[in-house]
Amino acid sequence: MTRDERLAALEQIANEVRACSACRLAEGRTRAVPGEGDPDTEVIFVGEGPGFNEDREGRPFVGRAGGLLVRLLGSIGWQRESVFITNVVKCRPPDNRDPEPDEIAACAPYLRRQLEVLDPAVVVTLGRYSMGTFMPGARIGQVHGTTRPADPSTGARDATVLAMYHPAAALRTPALERESYEDIARLAGILQRSRDRRAAAAAAAAVPSAEQAAGTVAASPTGAVATPAGAGAAQAPLGASIQTAEPPAPADAESQLTLF
Ligand code: URA
Ligand code: SF4
Repeated sequence: MTRDERLAALEQIANEVRACSACRLAEGRTRAVPGEGDPDTEVIFVGEGPGFNEDREGRPFVGRAGGLLVRLLGSIGWQRESVFITNVVKCRPPDNRDPEPDEIAACAPYLRRQLEVLDPAVVVTLGRYSMGTFMPGARIGQVHGTTRPADPSTGARDATVLAMYHPAAALRTPALERESYEDIARLAGILQRSRDRRAAAAAAAAVPSAEQAAGTVAASPTGAVATPAGAGAAQAPLGASIQTAEPPAPADAESQLTLF
């Protein structure tokens, strides 16, 4: 998909969300909050649901929790405009109560479709409810700061999931805020490794047809990874959004990865 096609697809989803009445959260909302961000991004942040300020503005993470999210992103040199930010439920639960299972289930197709359009390399879950979608059965106190592969049934075809505490929880508890800075410090390295894995998979998929065309069989074990056509085609839209300061780097260069 081109950037314009992704933009149009995301806007289509957002329009459906704004008109949605599939669960009882529609009744209490002022504005639905579909989510926002760079359609070319490689990284999507998924929170729980809109709060008071988000409900008024129709935008995700614009209140106090959003302030911390922006500071967390800033600590690794990223800006909120460079990622995509959304929630498990798109309408505010009354009095900021937790979303209920049937509400999460009713809203899930919108998140799944957003993930299908964005095809992110990394999904960052913020809080328990978002973690529950991508790491069912996990406990946030144990898995925050860790990753696992996304189940493609979430809509994220080939992504790494990083679990983090919810910024609102981190605002209430200094220890969790400190750990959130440590967890997000891993993000650039996680992105790089996911990007490398996806490029290798795309190159490996591209090699057999090239070999068939040439009537040869692969001799080099490194050929799959090094094929520029496959890797370049796969990375072009991603590299346009989030660029590394250096070529694929060792893990200790994680903090040098920057956006734009
Ligand atoms: N908390 C969330 O989970 N999402 C928002 O958008 C804002 C606060
Ligand atoms: Fe529709 Fe989701 Fe809002 Fe429920 S929370 S009304 S499913 S958009």
